[in-house]
Amino acid sequence: MNRPIALVTGGASGMGLASVERLAQDGFRVVMVDRAEAALQREASRLSAHGLDVTPRLVDLTDEAAVRAMILALPPVTALVNNAGIFDERKFDDVANDDFRRMMEVNLIAAATLTQEVARRMPDQVGRVVNIASRAYLGAKNHAHYVASKAALVGYTRASAMELAPRGILVNAIAPGLIRTPLLAALTPERMAAQLALQPTGAAGEAQDVAHAVAFLASPRTRFITGQVLFVDGGKSLGGTTA
Ligand SMILES: NC(=O)c1ccc[n+]([C@@H]2O[C@H](COP(=O)([O-])OP(=O)(O)OC[C@H]3O[C@@H](n4cnc5c(N)ncnc54)[C@H](O)[C@@H]3O)[C@@H](O)[C@H]2O)c1
Repeated sequence: MNRPIALVTGGASGMGLASVERLAQDGFRVVMVDRAEAALQREASRLSAHGLDVTPRLVDLTDEAAVRAMILALPPVTALVNNAGIFDERKFDDVANDDFRRMMEVNLIAAATLTQEVARRMPDQVGRVVNIASRAYLGAKNHAHYVASKAALVGYTRASAMELAPRGILVNAIAPGLIRTPLLAALTPERMAAQLALQPTGAAGEAQDVAHAVAFLASPRTRFITGQVLFVDGGKSLGGTTA
């Protein structure tokens, strides 16, 4: 059987890894892309041992030529999940221009390069792009550079949704809230406690909660939703606490 191909960036960890597993279970042949070599090989072997159809690709997404060459060497991709992202905390006064550039390179430009290159050969009607933004794009303290990069990714989602809609290719974003993954190591225990206190549900989410939303938006059965942002955040985007 010819399985459709899904490509997930940042597939070696956190919600990218959970999405790789879920999409493979749903019948995709999944290309998992990451720059973390050891984790990539380890997780690809683990998933393959469970009978899942996954292929690791070691690429640093800030290397534009390598990204474009990788896509040209693959058969057409049906579902693209732009998940790889970087995060750190900086006080407002300490954010340097290089911090903005670093964030934009991974969180926006890599996703845009991939979308452009993949979309050229993506199959009409069933092609799907899912961009992992963040609830923080609405505004958050202590990471203005990250917030700006994720707001830019939402803007790019809306623009590419309009560009690709005539071909029936749908582009949506997911805005996760606080999700337990290795990325949260950037938060001090005090900041983590403060974040948890703001959760209406009182708890952080799990990577599988996001993978479930990815599977929904990547599915060919999802046919009339494009340019949207789906919050997977336990209600934090509602704007208040339950108190
Ligand atoms: N964890 C959260 O609470 C949270 C909340 C909102 C949004 N997000 C977003 O979700 C996405 C996934 O985050 P996560 O929490 O699973 O993080 P994670 O750190 O567990 O995984 C991110 C993966 O991306 C890879 N990566 C980063 N830069 C790369 C590059 N230049 N080239 C190739 N691979 C690269 C890393 O090696 C890592 O494996 C990110 O875009 C993040 O901004 C996370």
